[in-house]
Amino acid sequence: MLLGSAFLVALLGIPSTFAIPTRGAEKSKYIDWKTFKANGVNLGGWLVQESTIDTTWWNTYSGGADDEWGLCKNLGSRCGSVLEKRYASWITTADIDKIAESGATLLRIPTTYAAWIHYPGSQLYSGKQTTYLRDITKHAIEKHGMHIIIDVHSLPGGYNGLTIGEASGHWGWFYNQTNLDYSLEVIDNILSFIQASGHPESFTLEPMNEPADNRDLSVFGTPVALSDEGAAWVLKYIKAVQSRVASVNRKIPIMFQGSFKSVNYWSVNFSQSDNLVFDKHNYYFEGRNTTSENLPSYICTDAKATPGDGKFPVFVGEWSIQALYNNSFVLRERNINVGLAAFHKYAHGSSYWTWKFSGNATVGGEGTQTDYWNYEEYVNRGFVHPKNGDVTFCR
Ligand SMILES: *[C@@H]1O[C@H](CO)[C@@H](O)[C@H](O)[C@H]1NC(C)=O
Ligand SMILES: *[C@@H]1O[C@H](CO)[C@@H](O)[C@H](O)[C@H]1NC(C)=O
Ligand SMILES: *[C@@H]1O[C@H](CO)[C@@H](O)[C@H](O)[C@H]1NC(C)=O
Ligand SMILES: *[C@@H]1O[C@H](CO)[C@@H](O)[C@H](O)[C@H]1NC(C)=O
Ligand SMILES: *[C@@H]1O[C@H](CO)[C@@H](O)[C@H](O)[C@H]1NC(C)=O
Repeated sequence: MLLGSAFLVALLGIPSTFAIPTRGAEKSKYIDWKTFKANGVNLGGWLVQESTIDTTWWNTYSGGADDEWGLCKNLGSRCGSVLEKRYASWITTADIDKIAESGATLLRIPTTYAAWIHYPGSQLYSGKQTTYLRDITKHAIEKHGMHIIIDVHSLPGGYNGLTIGEASGHWGWFYNQTNLDYSLEVIDNILSFIQASGHPESFTLEPMNEPADNRDLSVFGTPVALSDEGAAWVLKYIKAVQSRVASVNRKIPIMFQGSFKSVNYWSVNFSQSDNLVFDKHNYYFEGRNTTSENLPSYICTDAKATPGDGKFPVFVGEWSIQALYNNSFVLRERNINVGLAAFHKYAHGSSYWTWKFSGNATVGGEGTQTDYWNYEEYVNRGFVHPKNGDVTFCR
């Protein structure tokens, strides 16, 4: 996702200690996204750092950088300890219990490539991300039966020029075979992590997020953010990912976030039998004349369009209720439930961006960003009751 001019970046751990005993006797039940639906949340700001998510933390450690790459560079030798502390504290098992109590059954977890590989020259930190990831997902799966989407939020060289794709102004992932090879090493290591988790049936693998090669960032969030040539490179990667997954465990679903192109644009290039689910991001804070008042009509229009041609299931991996104009406190509860209900009814559910969000940047209308992005606060206020979410708004 992209907020004004600042975004997501990330960090995770290195594979090598994925020694988790398998619970062999347990019957594994793999999900079929064609029939599976879930409401969930993203764990943003945990293993990927973003300037907008936690203003106080960012101001304390970034040294004025706009991305995690710069934050780590500015922190120098302190980067590791600052980030390890973040991994240990921003999301804990208590958060997972609270998420489960709210009725959510899915976690989408952004990671940087540096969680999975050492990439020469990278400023992104490779530490114990996978240890934290293992502990949190084990808890979520064993205690609450949750489904986990592991999201690769950046790739070597950078794939969208944003803070979150590796670093601001980095597009070096495109058309670079070396970087593609490193990317597939990321996939191999995630597959090892999933296979060693004891619960391979509880994971979906999302190999990238919001790829874009258009250097005009004002078109980010629209179909032209990714050129046809760029899309062909993305497709080459996704096909290679499919073949890696198939060689290890073809029952692990692949979730494909195809930038902001329609599902129909891509679906022709995949076979009906592929174990594939699309991820479409539906945001309202820019690009359209949205207000808190008219948000349900935009949400419903998006929800109905989300499935595309119906060849593959589609999940809404990110969304939020910040509108461009006239944001209103009193309309939040309605809007959150309209989105939960509509994306569940017309698509395969959604994961809100994001569980914790304390960023205080200004918005049009009442409050600041934290009032429209912080799902935990909606749970605290008793706003979340998707079963009562009303899709009559969508008729
Ligand atoms: C956001 O919080 C920071 C301190 O963390 C403060 O310096 C800044 O003025 C605040 N911005 C707004 C819009 O409230
Ligand atoms: C590919 O990326 C690597 C790493 O950034 C770089 O060293 C190399 O020059 C790039 N190759 C090409 C052909 O651009
Ligand atoms: C998908 O397949 C169509 C039809 O064969 C082709 O024209 C198009 O270029 C392919 N898309 C990509 C992104 O390669
Ligand atoms: C938003 O409203 C303004 C003023 O009515 C109009 O000029 C503009 O075209 C609208 N933008 C979109 C994306 O509909
Ligand atoms: C926002 O609210 C103000 C005051 O009610 C109103 O004048 C204005 O037209 C609204 N803006 C939009 C885009 O609806």
